[in-house]
Amino acid sequence: MHNTILITGGTGYIGSHTAVELMLQGHRVVIMDNLCNSSAQVLGRLRQLCGDRFDFVQADVRNAAALDAVFTSYPIDGVIHFAGLKAVGESVAQPLRYFDNNLGSTTALLLAMAKAGVHRLVFSSSATVYGDPDQVPITEQARLQVTSPYGRTKLVCEEILRDLMAAGAHWQIAILRYFNPVGAHPSGLIGEAPNGVPNNLMPYIAQVAVGQREYLSIFGQDYPTPDGTGVRDYIHVVDLAQGHLAALDYLAREGQSITVNLGTGRGISVREMMETFSRVNHVHIAHRYTDRRPGDVAACWADTTLARERLGWQAQLGVERMCEDTWRWQSRNPRGYSDSA
Ligand code: NAD
Ligand code: UD1
Repeated sequence: MHNTILITGGTGYIGSHTAVELMLQGHRVVIMDNLCNSSAQVLGRLRQLCGDRFDFVQADVRNAAALDAVFTSYPIDGVIHFAGLKAVGESVAQPLRYFDNNLGSTTALLLAMAKAGVHRLVFSSSATVYGDPDQVPITEQARLQVTSPYGRTKLVCEEILRDLMAAGAHWQIAILRYFNPVGAHPSGLIGEAPNGVPNNLMPYIAQVAVGQREYLSIFGQDYPTPDGTGVRDYIHVVDLAQGHLAALDYLAREGQSITVNLGTGRGISVREMMETFSRVNHVHIAHRYTDRRPGDVAACWADTTLARERLGWQAQLGVERMCEDTWRWQSRNPRGYSDSA
C-alpha cells in the first residue's frame, strides 16, 4: 500500500537517503526541515532521482503552527523523525541548544501528531545510548548510559516515547538505534556533507582522499582490539534507509511498538576502513597515529538478531561498497552541495 510519510530532517544525510527509498517504493513524501544543517540543493538531487513525488516545507519542527499546517494539508500516514542536532562535542559546549532543539522538536511533533490523530512514528536513536558497553555484540537489552548531552537527548526522547507507549496502545513507535552510518547513494548524487572539519571517521577519510585535509589522525593504536585501533559497526546509509521502510511495514503489520538496533553485526577497525578505502578506490590516505580521543570506546557493534527476526531486515552492503559509494559522492562533489548549480 502506498502511504504519505512526513520526514522531519529529510534534507539531511540519512533523511535524504530514506526519502529516496520511500519514493522508489511508491510512497509520497513530505519533507520538513529548517536547513540548519543541510542544503536546499538536496531537493534538486532528490528530483533527479525520484521526480516530483515529494513536497518540501521549510520550517522548524519546534514550530507548532507549521506542524499543524502540514498535518491538515497532507493525509499523513506516518512520520519519520530525523530532525535534530548530532555533534557530540558541540553538545558538550552548548548543552541547552541540544536540549531545546532535540527535546523541543520531539515533544512539538508528538503533540501535533496526537492532535492530528497520527500515531505511527519511527524515531532516530543512536548506539550512543549504550555508552561504554559491558559486552559486544550489544543487544537491545543492554544497560543504557550516556556520556554527552547529545546522548542524553536521545535517551530522554526514548524515555518520552516509552511513556507514550505505556499510556496508550494506539501509539505505534519504532525506536531505531543506529550504529555508524556511512556511504552514499550509488548515483553519487546525494551523500554526507558535514559542515567544517568532520568529526566522524568516514567523511574525514574521504576529505583526505580528495585533498581537502592533509592527513587522517588515527585516534589510538593501543586498544584491546585485533590491530589496536577502534572497532565500530559501520552500516551503509542505503541499508539503513531500507531499515526505516522495514520498520514502517512492521508497525503497520503488527500494530505494536519496537526498539531495535540497526547495524551490520560486524566490527571494522579504523585501520581496516582506511586500508579498504585506499585499496578499492586506488587513492592514498596519508595518516598519523595520535592519542586516543577522550570518551571513545574500544569496540562497539550490534547484535542484529532482533532486526532480522522481527523486521525481516538485514544489512546487505559490505565495507567495500561503503568505501566505493563514499568516494563516488566525494570525488564528484568535493565541497558537498556547495558545488551544485
Ligand atoms: P543531519 O544533520 O544530516 O540531518 C538532520 C536534519 O535535521 C538536517 O537537515 C537539519 O537541517 C534538520 N534539523 C535539525 N533540527 C531541526 C529542527 N528543529 N527543525 C527542522 N529541521 C531540523 O543528520 P543525520 O546524520 O542525517 O542524522 C539524522 C538523525 O539520526 C539525527 O536525529 C541524528 O541524531 C540521528 N543519528 C545520526 C547518526 C549519524 O552518525 N549520522 C547516528 C545515530 C543517530
Ligand atoms: C560518534 C559519536 C556517537 C555517534 C556516532 C555515529 C563521539 C564521541 N561519538 O561515535 O555519539 O552516535 O559517532 O555517528 O563523537 N576516528 C579516528 N580519526 C578520526 C575520526 C574517528 O581515528 O579523525 C576513530 C574513532 O576513534 C573511532 C572510529 O574512528 O574509533 C569511529 O569514530 P566516529 O566516526 O567519530 O564514530 P564513533 O566514535 O563511533
